Amino acid sequence: MSSAIATLFLSSLVLFSVVSALEVDFTYHRFPQMTNVLRQLNREYPEMTKLYSVGKSVQGRDLWVMLVTRDPDDEPLLKPNIKYIANMHGNEPVGRELMLHLLQHLLSNYGSDSYVTWLLDNTRIHIMPSMNPDGFEVAQEGECSGVQGRGNANNVDLNRNFPDYFAGPSKAPTQPETRAVMDWIKKTQFVLSGNFHGGALVASYPFDNIPANSPRNFRIVGSPSQTPDDDVFRHLAEVYSFNHKNMYVGVTCRDGSPPFPNGTTNGAAWYSLIGGMQDYNYVWASCMEITLEISCCKYPRHHLLPQFWTDNKNAILQYLGEVHRGVWGQVKDSNNNPISNATVKVMGRDFGFKTTDRGEYWRVLRPGTYTLQVEARGYDSLEIPVKVTKGVTIQNITLNPQTGTYHEPHNEQPAYQGYPSISPSQQENSGTSLRGLWPTYRNLLKQPKEAVIFPRLSYGVNYRQQPSHPLLNYNIHG
Ligand SMILES: *[C@@H]1O[C@H](CO)[C@@H](O)[C@H](O)[C@H]1NC(C)=O
Ligand SMILES: *[C@@H]1O[C@H](CO)[C@@H](O)[C@H](O)[C@H]1NC(C)=O
Ligand SMILES: *[C@@H]1O[C@H](CO)[C@@H](O)[C@H](O)[C@H]1NC(C)=O
Repeated sequence: MSSAIATLFLSSLVLFSVVSALEVDFTYHRFPQMTNVLRQLNREYPEMTKLYSVGKSVQGRDLWVMLVTRDPDDEPLLKPNIKYIANMHGNEPVGRELMLHLLQHLLSNYGSDSYVTWLLDNTRIHIMPSMNPDGFEVAQEGECSGVQGRGNANNVDLNRNFPDYFAGPSKAPTQPETRAVMDWIKKTQFVLSGNFHGGALVASYPFDNIPANSPRNFRIVGSPSQTPDDDVFRHLAEVYSFNHKNMYVGVTCRDGSPPFPNGTTNGAAWYSLIGGMQDYNYVWASCMEITLEISCCKYPRHHLLPQFWTDNKNAILQYLGEVHRGVWGQVKDSNNNPISNATVKVMGRDFGFKTTDRGEYWRVLRPGTYTLQVEARGYDSLEIPVKVTKGVTIQNITLNPQTGTYHEPHNEQPAYQGYPSISPSQQENSGTSLRGLWPTYRNLLKQPKEAVIFPRLSYGVNYRQQPSHPLLNYNIHG
């Protein structure tokens, strides 16, 4: 009898351990352990994930990315891509661990949590837990302000290694990790991005650098270097900060350093830097990226990780939803064929975003009335007024064959008068379009699908069904 019970008990234990989902523990995962977590989650959720590597570090470690979405192989028109990158500085690894917990949270709550379900049904979320796996391996737990492991194995700071809009190419040779990320974002059109760092508690937004002839030593300390999308960037930074447990309070990490009002800052207003990743994303990849500094101590002891997850979880989740905002659409010709490489500019915001191979464009905007300026080689240019409300406005655009003389889009990137204007093609040294090559890692471009957006839920219904999960909840902290 008792042995029968024991057998029953044992076999249910075995059964339980077989079916139980992976629990990511709150430790720092070395590279092989991190790889295992990613592989296990990928095995456990094959219909929701795709694990891929965008390249290798100097020492040959894979730069893993996990794509999380409903049906990763299915790419409905206009389903937006968003990315999180962490651990670009190897000695700032809190984000690296939070990304693993985020993966587990998204995957284990799909189908039960309505916000997570909505997110994964309608968004392609790419997560790179470590952009600098070599640096991480030599960094020291408990080291709050050191630099060991900050750079990659060639001791190059990857957040100074991107081509710079104001200053030109990086002085240091482009590192394999930087190159891999540049190639990745050239192939996949990301709409929104977050880059996790440590050493402060603030959400920082472009520009990080300042115009070249604005004398670094004489400029007023703390003056911002604003993009034409400053309102959008401020908003995005506030979404993170206001949904974080205490970032919005303006925590000072060091005695004597001034607090950040609202827990946000323009990058250059804090300190300017050359070759940063967020400026690159905005200028050359049509992607709105902000930098999230999430821990005063760069490499805090691992027993604090549960607290970091609790503090950041809501902010991390809410920020992902912000991609569903602004104006999206498809640019086509009068025969209904998509037009790739068309420039879609918002009047007054000189940075032109390009359409993908399927003619798609996305612009994250705050509610308001805007004029879209659409230009493509061989077609008449068009100006279209759009009204953006909370959420996404779909604005498809049909261009007619050119009647007049075509002029190359002027000011495709704003020419700051008197400042060197670096054209992307000079920078990139590559003949490929900055966008498009859509999508990617199977080297197989799917045929555009006709008139299908989000097959599972109709667009309007989708957004109206969201009242219990407002995309932005300013009142969350009372
Ligand atoms: C703080 O955020 C609020 C809400 O967006 C905004 O009205 C205010 O101007 C912000 N303050 C600063 C100093 O950025
Ligand atoms: C895309 O358009 C730009 C002009 O806006 C042009 O210079 C470039 O060559 C085009 N690229 C491709 C791949 O067609
Ligand atoms: C825009 O185009 C998409 C894809 O072609 C289509 O599904 C959608 O119904 C169109 N939306 C509007 C408002 O015309």
